[in-house]
Amino acid sequence: MFYKKEIQILKQKKIFRKRKIFDKNYIDFASNDYIDLSQNEKLLKKAYKLSINKEINSPRASMLINGYSKLHKKLEDKLAKIHRFQNCILAGSGFLANIALFESLCRNKDIIFIDEEYHASGILATKILKDRAILFKHNDENDLKNKLNRLQYESNKRIIIAIEGVYSMSGEIAKKEFAQIAIDYNAILIVDEAHSIGTIGDNLLGYFDYYKINNHNNFIKLGTLSKAYGSYGAYILSNKHINKYLQTRAKPIIYSTALSSFDTALALVNIKYIQKHKNKILKKNIKIKQIIYKEFNVKLDSQIFSLKFQNQTDMIDKAKLLKDNDIIVGAIRKPTVKTPTLRIVFSYKHTKKDVKKLCKLLKK
Ligand SMILES: Cc1ncc(COP(=O)(O)O)c(C=O)c1O
Repeated sequence: MFYKKEIQILKQKKIFRKRKIFDKNYIDFASNDYIDLSQNEKLLKKAYKLSINKEINSPRASMLINGYSKLHKKLEDKLAKIHRFQNCILAGSGFLANIALFESLCRNKDIIFIDEEYHASGILATKILKDRAILFKHNDENDLKNKLNRLQYESNKRIIIAIEGVYSMSGEIAKKEFAQIAIDYNAILIVDEAHSIGTIGDNLLGYFDYYKINNHNNFIKLGTLSKAYGSYGAYILSNKHINKYLQTRAKPIIYSTALSSFDTALALVNIKYIQKHKNKILKKNIKIKQIIYKEFNVKLDSQIFSLKFQNQTDMIDKAKLLKDNDIIVGAIRKPTVKTPTLRIVFSYKHTKKDVKKLCKLLKK
């Protein structure tokens, strides 16, 4: 039997993974549905109407053939406008968008510096880049600077830096200094904002919004439509030159079918909703953070609360206790994280009662 031995080893190490279908009645602290749009029937109906009125059901081909539609362009323009970037290009998913960026931007002698806790899609792309990819210590601007200074680079060599706005496992926000380092070293800065857009910043626009950093030609924002924006797909915001280059050179965008019409319409409708209800969402986020501060004396940076455990068994026992009490959280094991972690995600839907119930069980 193929892979029998590998599966056995994974099971022995207790890192064998299984997919589960969860009962809808659980209180969900596991998914990335930050604004609770995944079950909003009204928005779903609106998106259906929008996609059925304007488009064929399926995009049929890559955006570079005839898969690009008015709806895609409308979403790209909307995203570029609200995030204040020159241009936007859609991608099939955040995973594809990371591979697209890393593989296409890092040419022959260029070097990309990546936070060691960057998402698996970026880390996978480093395997293609080999010695053109250098990891730096997590969220450590000094380690990055040391590595940049040590690099004997030729004047025509590009430098790219890749960080996450909010780190998906720990919930930490990337330090402000990275933006300035990118400017100082004339490097391109990629910020993967999968977990920061829709969760941080006065306008819920992520890392740059949170620190009130003005836009710069060197910055690239990668956003997913699948998390706070409640749909599926991804987008890359950049200056117009990088945008032009990506549409001609980024393989996961060129050689992959365009985003589905419905997902595109759903993202458009949801983004408009978030803009309209921004203040309400921000207020709710603050309320949840206040409860966590009161209960655990922890100041949450983002909507992700990560609890580390000394061993996997303790973590799994805690996740089971929560599940027995109708609460699901993410139980994240090695090698995804270095230390077993319960990943708890707060969303707009959680009531004070839900959060208090969670806290009580976590303290048990
Ligand atoms: C930081 C980060 N980047 C990229 C991705 C991939 O995004 P997608 O789920 O749209 O492929 C994820 C999530 O799953 C993520 O957490």
